[in-house]
Amino acid sequence: MNLEKYPPNPEFQNQAHISSENFSHALVETSLRQPESFWKELSKALQWQKPYTTFQKGDGHRAQFFSDGQINVSENCLDRHAERNPNRPAIIWRSEIDTEGHQEKRDLTYRELLVLTCQIANSLKELGVSKGDRVLIYLPMVPELVATMQACARIGAIHTVVFAGFSAQSIVDRLEDSGSKLVVTADGFKRKGKFVFLKREVDEALKLKKTEVKKVIVLQRDSKQKCEMTIDRDLWWKDSVEKQKTFIPAEKTSAEDPLFILYTSGTTGKPKGLFHTHGGYLLWAHWTTRWLFDIKAEDRYWCSADCGWITGHTYIAYGPLSNGSQVFMYEGAPTYPNAAAFYDILEREKISILYTSPTAIRMLMSSEQDLPAKYKFSDLRLLGTVGEPINPEAWRWYRELIGKERCPIVDTYWQTETGGAMIAPFPGTTTLKAGSCTHALPGVDAKILNPSDGKEVARGEKGALVFARPWPSMSRGVWGDPSRFENTYWNVSAELRGYYVTGDLAHQDEDGYFWISGRIDDVMNVAGHRIGSAEVESALVENPHIYEAAVVGAPDPIKGQTLIAFVEITKESHAAIAAGQLTIETLQNQARKTVGEMIGAFAKPSEIRVVKALPKTRSGKIMRRLLREVAVSGNFKGDTTTLEDFSLEQLRGEED
Ligand code: WT7
Repeated sequence: MNLEKYPPNPEFQNQAHISSENFSHALVETSLRQPESFWKELSKALQWQKPYTTFQKGDGHRAQFFSDGQINVSENCLDRHAERNPNRPAIIWRSEIDTEGHQEKRDLTYRELLVLTCQIANSLKELGVSKGDRVLIYLPMVPELVATMQACARIGAIHTVVFAGFSAQSIVDRLEDSGSKLVVTADGFKRKGKFVFLKREVDEALKLKKTEVKKVIVLQRDSKQKCEMTIDRDLWWKDSVEKQKTFIPAEKTSAEDPLFILYTSGTTGKPKGLFHTHGGYLLWAHWTTRWLFDIKAEDRYWCSADCGWITGHTYIAYGPLSNGSQVFMYEGAPTYPNAAAFYDILEREKISILYTSPTAIRMLMSSEQDLPAKYKFSDLRLLGTVGEPINPEAWRWYRELIGKERCPIVDTYWQTETGGAMIAPFPGTTTLKAGSCTHALPGVDAKILNPSDGKEVARGEKGALVFARPWPSMSRGVWGDPSRFENTYWNVSAELRGYYVTGDLAHQDEDGYFWISGRIDDVMNVAGHRIGSAEVESALVENPHIYEAAVVGAPDPIKGQTLIAFVEITKESHAAIAAGQLTIETLQNQARKTVGEMIGAFAKPSEIRVVKALPKTRSGKIMRRLLREVAVSGNFKGDTTTLEDFSLEQLRGEED
């Protein structure tokens, strides 16, 4: 097993920031033995408004870092580079190519990005946003998105970015939970050749419920599209931002002041708003970007994630800019109209670092396995992956056909909660194995425990992946619900109390390499999108036909997982079917539509099975393990004698 090993390519190693194995070992060692002096040294890479003296305060879920220091993220990402290298490109932006081959292009230097950020910041201030206020951002992947995030950071406002694929209902949930008083959005954007309307979703959201929102700033992407504006509430970007002064000094912000809230799915209830802070988060974003991507000023770095997810926060908006690098941004689908478009971008835009997801890799693989062999990708020097376990086959294909066997593959394991990468290789020194995220990074005390006794498992055995101590970029909590943070992560059970529990199952091989198998809980991962079963189930029961639902993940060769929903429908719906007034297909389509409306299209189940009865224990608990097994293998071998109304055939969808 695991005989395949890929030592670093000497050419890469020679030019890498970290090129000596002894040094990378020493980094990890020192970080755990002398964390205080370790982070003191590293903190010098950032510009502090006031240096800190206290390294860590409190422990476990209460831990805070650098709390008496002052630092502002935007000053670190923009001002210092704009001063030293004003004309260096900060953002290289391209729109989706249309059918006639047209593409919009914009390159912003550090100076220009700073000006844009300051103008947005001034506009926000003029509209009454001040330090600590929340701003909801619902924008496509345009430079204004990164600039708006930076603008919030600059004035100490807290942004909450909502991925443009989310529905009106999801927007209003986030508006309400975060108490945002301003929304920044756009009329819409082009994706796969079609115009996706964003402002309409915001309008709909604001109709659904009364919120704190007073103003909506609207960026116009296409003047030919209709976009309704509400008087006294909605303002065009060009009227509110473009007239503003081109500078505003960064607000004084404590290292522990919140920077953003980002909503993510858990096992129960609605998505939680995890929040991160200016100091520890930025320090981690800065150093992990440097270590893992070996990033240099001349790199043209492309992370294909959306800023609506944590990857886009840490490794588009903050980490690379803090390092003064050049960030490539693409609006729409880079694989439209076909996979060749993606390869053309890599080649034409001279991308040197590519960071993408296993789903994207498998999608490219499945479209024309050998197509990339026609390209040289001569500027590429490093490849990253994130979001889900990468299967060895996809890993090898990525390395051979995209990386031409010379680029290291950096598989980064982390979560919204961790703020930045936790387990990943150093590209210049780590010997890689196909499908392993390799080793814990400096400052990360990763362990694999047996959940039933809290003891470390033997090498090779699977268990719960945990972190034994807090780290600077960990989330500081669930917005508005402090006990939820403690209970969900730090006090999961008596056995695992005091450990940060990731929710992932993993093992370490004989060489100590980490291998992630996937989630232990009811969180699913579809195409790298994290979806909670409870969320989809409560969306499904909003459909008048459905009164109970259970959703599980089934393996999918490209997306990693797809969702299968088992639903019980009402007596009336059964009667309507029997009377020929309703078909199962109509019901299934309606149910999928409901999920699209309640969450977003990406959360629609691929299959909806109408069942007579969901398998339940005598105490009424739905047997998810059973459903998962049926979804995976069509079978269940466990004991079903204690279940009510059990029928395997009907769960398989074979019996009507
Ligand atoms: C979950 C976190 C971290 C940014 C994107 C996802 C899975 C993430 C890997 C990886 C195996 C991975 C885990 C984790 N995951 N990266 N390299 N190998 N699994 O962030 O939406 O918070 O999801 O994604 O299951 O718990 P997220």
